[in-house]
Amino acid sequence: MRIALGADHAGVALKDRLKRQLDERGISYTDFGTHTTESVDYPDYAAKVAHEVAAGAYDRGVLVCGTGIGMAIAANKVSGVRAAPVVDLMSAALSREHNDVNVLALGARVTTPEVATRLLDIFLDTPFSGGRHQR
Ligand code: RB5
Repeated sequence: MRIALGADHAGVALKDRLKRQLDERGISYTDFGTHTTESVDYPDYAAKVAHEVAAGAYDRGVLVCGTGIGMAIAANKVSGVRAAPVVDLMSAALSREHNDVNVLALGARVTTPEVATRLLDIFLDTPFSGGRHQR
């Protein structure tokens, strides 16, 4: 599995934490930025990651902003992307099982790093159920 990562200034620290997690798990990724806490426009980073996933260059995307909401709104404008802002474990699992979410949007201001790593694990490890959800 290959992951495309992106964040704005509010999410850059959590993105770095998630990169360590991916390293520990041996999962390859590309970090599309941003790389500093200088203020940037989150849709620019959502668009980069969303287009990479939609094109099939990456299997999944992970975006981080303050709440995850703006990143999800922006990423969902790209055809083929199913992005969800996720803050709890059940939503993380159901976003995969029922919605086949391919871009996880996390909020560094609303989720602790400890919870965020659990959300990422669930996002990576939970398969789509298919069946009636496919229909
Ligand atoms: C940046 O201040 C903040 O608005 C952004 O990270 C995000 O939360 C938007 O949804």
